[in-house]
Amino acid sequence: MSSSNPLRDAQDRRLPRIAGPSGLVIFGVTGDLSRKKLMPAVYDLANRGLLPPGFSLIGFARRQWADEDFAQVVHDAVKEHARTPFREEVWQQLVNGCRFVQGDFDDDAAFETLKETIHELDKAQGTGGNFAFYLSVPPKFFPTVVQQLKKHGLAEQTENSWRRAVIEKPFGHDLKSAQELNRIVHDVFPTEAVFRIDHYLGKETVQNILALRFANTLFEPIWNRSYVDHVQITMAEDIGIGGRAGYYDGIGAARDVIQNHLLQLLALTAMEEPASFDADALVAEKTKVLGAVRLPKDLGKETVRGQYAAGWQGGEKVLGYLEEEGIDPRSKTDTYAAIKLEIDNRRWAGVPFYLRTGKRLGRRVTEIAVVFQRAPHSPFDDTATEELGQNALVIRVQPDEGVTLRFGSKVPGTQMEVRDVSMDFAYGESFTESSPEAYERLILDVLLGDANLFPRLKEVELSWQILDPIEEYWDKHGKPAQYPAGTWGPVEADEMLARDGRSWRRP
Ligand code: BG6
Repeated sequence: MSSSNPLRDAQDRRLPRIAGPSGLVIFGVTGDLSRKKLMPAVYDLANRGLLPPGFSLIGFARRQWADEDFAQVVHDAVKEHARTPFREEVWQQLVNGCRFVQGDFDDDAAFETLKETIHELDKAQGTGGNFAFYLSVPPKFFPTVVQQLKKHGLAEQTENSWRRAVIEKPFGHDLKSAQELNRIVHDVFPTEAVFRIDHYLGKETVQNILALRFANTLFEPIWNRSYVDHVQITMAEDIGIGGRAGYYDGIGAARDVIQNHLLQLLALTAMEEPASFDADALVAEKTKVLGAVRLPKDLGKETVRGQYAAGWQGGEKVLGYLEEEGIDPRSKTDTYAAIKLEIDNRRWAGVPFYLRTGKRLGRRVTEIAVVFQRAPHSPFDDTATEELGQNALVIRVQPDEGVTLRFGSKVPGTQMEVRDVSMDFAYGESFTESSPEAYERLILDVLLGDANLFPRLKEVELSWQILDPIEEYWDKHGKPAQYPAGTWGPVEADEMLARDGRSWRRP
């Protein structure tokens, strides 16, 4: 029922969202993701007062650790990677609920111990039986872990308590395997208890795409084929594959990030306005636009894959992909991928969306550039001394978060020389609060049961439908083009855009 006091309603909506009694079990707790992102995110949430006092964290892994060893690992991870300052009193409260369960994923006794640990925490910490299971494990173990949860009665919710599964990406490695995995997961957890992670959706700048488009009147009237020439979505990383050979080789750049992060960015950039911001309305629009994505006819010309060769990065000599530890020297895995897509609807017909991603590129940057058509007529042609670029609106997802608008302006003092300039909005200058990490937002959403920022199965299926034909084509034809580490990818990707009379931005 709506309140009669609109002012109070507005204030209520600004109250912080605090999780109720609950705990989190992390499978694969010794991995990089857990140490660098998950444990620090839990601490940051606690530090911001968004977790209940008895919040509990259970680590599950093969190491022979006691609770104290685990607590020390969490402590070190928090000290090294947390976003917010270390406060002893917050840590002391968190450590009371830290437990470790030792075992393999197929070890029945370990899952029984996990069950007992949960019961013990329900009594000691008041977690109320509410637990989320975070599968931060290699994808091949997803089925085993969820089936073990079922076998040991850990997935069962009661009227007063919930159990949820959080599944890291990639969800499957093609359409068929994603559907099969889904069948296994849904045999154990109901739809509303499954949270598929795409951490890009937890980023502030990604959520801002919808605010920018739909909270303003300025952009939406020109956000279509009548004004937009093309869209470039770039996710460039300067790092190589680091210690992730086991995960990355055979998966590659397109499966690792285009299937999820980049197609989600495309969906948010291109979708129609949802009727509201609830999960159903958002998903309806995202699936509509993903369903309208068309692959180019000539996959040989309109897609490019690459693999980094040895080169220089940040003044240091770095290895090529095939020389990295744990990589098969004959591997054909892509560390770079560029794809041209079109969207078959009235808004976007004929507007190419160019997606590219790569490891060991010039620098770390993720951005969406909406590039507008040139002015239909220029009265300045005789006077301008340099060629004007096209107007562009660039959503800077990271690391320099903000939005840039590029347009032409008269150079002061000259008769009528027009030059490209840019107008910037930077998060750091406009807001005093720093942005929460994506995993902070997403873990809190899981504990609150809020699924808005988690891709649904239909989105995952549509994304694989887009990617599968490309991967099949690549499997059958040739191998990735080499590019030296520290550059902007293979020349073939530049040629791909040059054929359309365009070029990639150099962010
Ligand atoms: C992950 C990919 O999803 O995203 C990694 O598996 C990649 O390969 C990472 O490095 C990048 O995340 P971010 O938030 O640093 O852009």
